[in-house]
Amino acid sequence: CLWVRNLRLKRRLPGPFAWPVVGNAMQLGQMPHITFARLAKKYGNVYQIRLGCSDIVVLNGDRAIRQALIQHSTEFAGRPNFASFQMISGGRSVTFSNYSKQWKAHRKIAQSSLRAFSSANSLTKTAFEQQVTAEAMELVQIFLRQSTDGRYFEPAHKFTVAVANIMCALCFGKRYGHDDLEFRTLLKRLNKFGETVGAGSLVDVMPWLQSFPNPVRSLYENFKNLNEEFFTFVKDKVVQHRESFSPDVTRDMSDAIINVIEHGKDSGLTKEFVEATVTDLIGAGQDTISTAMQWIMLLLVKYPDEQAKLQQVIDKVVGPDRLPSMEDRSSLAYIDAFIYETMRFTSFVPLTIPHSTTSDVTIEGLHIPQDTVVFINQWSVNHDPLKWKDPHIFDPTRFLNENGALNKDITNNVMIFSTGKRRCIGNQIAKVKVFLFTAVLLHQCSFESDPSEPLTLDCSYGLTLKPLQYCVSAKLRGKLLGLVS
Ligand code: HEM
Repeated sequence: CLWVRNLRLKRRLPGPFAWPVVGNAMQLGQMPHITFARLAKKYGNVYQIRLGCSDIVVLNGDRAIRQALIQHSTEFAGRPNFASFQMISGGRSVTFSNYSKQWKAHRKIAQSSLRAFSSANSLTKTAFEQQVTAEAMELVQIFLRQSTDGRYFEPAHKFTVAVANIMCALCFGKRYGHDDLEFRTLLKRLNKFGETVGAGSLVDVMPWLQSFPNPVRSLYENFKNLNEEFFTFVKDKVVQHRESFSPDVTRDMSDAIINVIEHGKDSGLTKEFVEATVTDLIGAGQDTISTAMQWIMLLLVKYPDEQAKLQQVIDKVVGPDRLPSMEDRSSLAYIDAFIYETMRFTSFVPLTIPHSTTSDVTIEGLHIPQDTVVFINQWSVNHDPLKWKDPHIFDPTRFLNENGALNKDITNNVMIFSTGKRRCIGNQIAKVKVFLFTAVLLHQCSFESDPSEPLTLDCSYGLTLKPLQYCVSAKLRGKLLGLVS
């Protein structure tokens, strides 16, 4: 029974004293991932905390986390049955649903649809890369316009719209302009998604907070509304696709998903899973990639020497007459090194989405019962002193070997896409987008921060860590290029 299970959990796992009613909620602080890493120094890499009515196991450090997610991949593949998770993608999210046969089938469909439209063969690969490059060039033009007469502008939301455009073009065959107010407003609201589902959010573990007006309750209501609004936006497009669907022509990813779920052989999923899959795919890559770009831009202006070094490499490899492409990637290892170091240093997805155990499991000699909520501290992997020299210093060269090539053994130590059965399915396309955006922006422009504002690396906490607002100005380097045909 639950009581006996809780008693076992309490007896066997170390952890801080939990206060009645709130547990350790008041001790999390502004940056829970840092608090969790600090607690690991005292209680070890596997310990328990209590948030409201939930006992939660927190995993820290490279060894314990990889042991759990790789060696015990099935046992750690669950998701908690949090009420907020039911509000996402019409209650049929692949990302937020628990481990089951249906989840496995759903994840497989999402994964193969994504691959079919980004990397399945050289044709789709080229089409995808050209589309990302076109979106990056649109950003270049907007950035230059916004910088007229040496003005400074906030780049954050422009990245959000650009990233959403790529996924909308892939899913619906339609991109939206940066001036589309309705689309921009929807995305602005979607930006708040991570505040509620980030590990340590209290809405799911203190259900009694729903019963009287308070900031957590309004966050929850807002979360419900924004999910409904986003799901309706996607569902409308999917319904239009369904109405004009022909099995002979696959226009975009929505058609492909309709085909496999509704017309495929025994997909095991009802048609409602189509809109859920599309919502998941657009949603999952949205906040993550735009946050990645916000950090990259911030670090480029924070470290102008790094920016100049990257441009030097680009100029040498690409030259002034064409734009960089994925074919240049192996010669532009310094860009990848800069991106890996941004992912490691900022750890902008500091904890994964909460997991839960699918059965009893023992990790580092400690017993964890079935259905326990588990927080996985990716930040602690990326700052583990056993793995990284001077983890608090930003240094892209740590990823390069003597001949300037990327050292794969070291890049594999970075954890931002998680690992094991729940690892991100979008990591390949995310890396392509971030690489091309960074390469194209730096090929075309130089960026500098507003000298009248202090440039800080402070951020706000949620599923993603977002930098505080900052302004930059862009200057054209050489000539403005058109797109390769
Ligand atoms: C899950 C990171 C981009 C689709 C996740 C998880 C992380 C993550 C940490 C949670 C894994 C876990 O709970 O253990 C990132 C980062 C991205 C990115 C850092 C960009 C820089 C994308 C993109 C897509 C995507 C572009 C799709 C288009 C998904 C899906 C899941 C997921 C569907 C759920 C997997 C599951 O629960 O089985 N991602 N992601 N992600 N991601 Fe990503």
